[in-house]
Amino acid sequence: MLVSIALITTALAVLPSTHALVRKNGIGKLPALGWNSWNAFSCGVDEDKIMTAANEMISLGLRDVGYNYVNIDDCWSIKDARDNVTGQIVPDPAKFPSGIKGTADKIHALGLKAGIYSSAGTETCGGYPASIGVEELDAATFAAWGIDYLKYDNCYVPSNWTDRYIGCVPDGTNGAVLANGTCAVDNTTAPATYDWSTSNTAKRYRIMRDALLAQNRKILYSLCEWGQAAVPTWGNATGNSWRVTGDITASWPRIAQILNENSFLLHAVDFWGHNDADMLEVGNGNMTREESRSHFAFWAATKSPLIIGTALDLLPAELLGILKNGYLLAFSQDGSFGGPATPYKWGTNPDWTFDALHPAEYWSGLSEKGTLVLALNTWNVTANREIVWSEVPHLETKHHERGGGAFEVTDIWTGEDLGCVQHGLNRSVNSHDTIGFLVGNSC
Ligand SMILES: *[C@@H]1O[C@H](CO)[C@@H](O)[C@H](O)[C@H]1NC(C)=O
Ligand SMILES: *[C@@H]1O[C@H](CO)[C@@H](O)[C@H](O)[C@H]1NC(C)=O
Ligand SMILES: *[C@@H]1O[C@H](CO)[C@@H](O)[C@H](O)[C@H]1NC(C)=O
Ligand SMILES: *[C@@H]1O[C@H](CO)[C@@H](O)[C@H](O)[C@H]1NC(C)=O
Ligand SMILES: *[C@@H]1O[C@H](CO)[C@@H](O)[C@H](O)[C@H]1NC(C)=O
Ligand SMILES: *[C@@H]1O[C@H](CO)[C@@H](O)[C@H](O)[C@H]1NC(C)=O
Ligand SMILES: *[C@@H]1O[C@H](CO)[C@@H](O)[C@H](O)[C@H]1NC(C)=O
Ligand SMILES: *[C@@H]1O[C@H](CO)[C@@H](O)[C@H](O)[C@H]1NC(C)=O
Repeated sequence: MLVSIALITTALAVLPSTHALVRKNGIGKLPALGWNSWNAFSCGVDEDKIMTAANEMISLGLRDVGYNYVNIDDCWSIKDARDNVTGQIVPDPAKFPSGIKGTADKIHALGLKAGIYSSAGTETCGGYPASIGVEELDAATFAAWGIDYLKYDNCYVPSNWTDRYIGCVPDGTNGAVLANGTCAVDNTTAPATYDWSTSNTAKRYRIMRDALLAQNRKILYSLCEWGQAAVPTWGNATGNSWRVTGDITASWPRIAQILNENSFLLHAVDFWGHNDADMLEVGNGNMTREESRSHFAFWAATKSPLIIGTALDLLPAELLGILKNGYLLAFSQDGSFGGPATPYKWGTNPDWTFDALHPAEYWSGLSEKGTLVLALNTWNVTANREIVWSEVPHLETKHHERGGGAFEVTDIWTGEDLGCVQHGLNRSVNSHDTIGFLVGNSC
């Protein structure tokens, strides 16, 4: 008897004390890598486009560097009805002639994984059948079709499921925001002590979590609740990733705005649970090469899921090279350090200043291969950015211990070995570009 009590005590002691979601399905330790149809095709999705993307992932070498999810976003089903016998959502036979199962089989045959989309409401954002109230049926259906990833959106929430308070998102997509980026306080503001894990939003997302965990299939759970309801406080107990803002667009001001917001929420990121800064726009809109590589560098460095959102058969080689950057992908997928890179200096602004156009500019993070250091020029003109080793966390200590102040450095964009670099680096940086270095041993 005493022995078994001791064993139970020991077993309890090794369980995580907070964020106690035990992911018995064993997936989602690292940020997901893949492709999704929405940013490229919005509602115009079909099996041809999905299989073109899947095949391009192989021929372009994206599968070989780790991208493995092929995700079908909104508008994949018959719009106005479920199957009147089984109650299941019915794949649109014109768009998916072999059904979602047939498409998923083809994706699996290529050594890739298949994702699908629904909403925690009565309809998807595009007005198609969604899952609130029928979570178990839909989760079972997705599992039976061979689905490996669910993106779960937040449209058409029934009135009896809305939240008591407004969970403000400081990009103005939910609630009133002041110029300094804080949320306006009014009679819809939650008390400071309010536990957002008790909100209806958190409950809606937990119902689908439980339905997915009940399936005999590993399905990654991607919460798309737009950063509302203080999701960083309960996301890790609910899903593998959670959106921290409203939707992305293919424009630099929006990329900078999302990076700024996310920079204040990175304490929520570690193994098994990731802030989702939204799907990549590399290849879309008219972002410059510099803007595209800053976008990718910071999405990788903050350990957001990296879900490509462009027509891969049209992607210029230079942008493909950004998406395949080995240093950034290695940082994203590091098996020993789960935490993201974080700002060590804001640069243009005083530290910890909220500024949608001028997010933090100087960042660092630990990885197996060394310290990743990034410096961003948020200005619309070329400017100098100076990285000083003694300012960079983790390097500062080494610097003092060894008394050296010199490190082995590799440029993450060119792969050039810069050898033993003393003091730091001072570079001219184009508008909206990011310089990046992997800083290794002292020398
Ligand atoms: C059920 O759906 C089938 C075909 O989709 C249709 O032919 C049939 O009339 C429907 N039955 C009812 C009761 O609505
Ligand atoms: C809203 O109504 C539905 C249908 O009656 C019910 O199943 C659900 O529990 C209700 N939601 C809440 C938060 O009470
Ligand atoms: C933001 O502005 C409001 C209103 O001017 C002020 O009350 C609040 O303290 C400011 N917050 C920060 C973090 O500066
Ligand atoms: C909240 O304030 C608004 C005006 O700012 C007012 O119209 C509304 O009635 C108030 N609601 C409650 C519940 O006090
Ligand atoms: C999220 O939960 C996992 C365990 O499920 C834990 O390992 C991880 O540290 C948690 N993340 C944070 C930021 O606490
Ligand atoms: C392209 O960029 C310009 C300026 O950088 C901007 O004004 C315009 O709206 C952009 N167009 C699109 C389609 O994003
Ligand atoms: C560059 O930024 C400055 C300061 O924010 C602004 O006044 C100016 O309009 C911007 N120029 C362009 C071309 O965007
Ligand atoms: C960085 O280089 C620029 C251009 O060479 C120079 O003007 C600037 O003073 C340098 N900064 C530092 C801190 O040395």
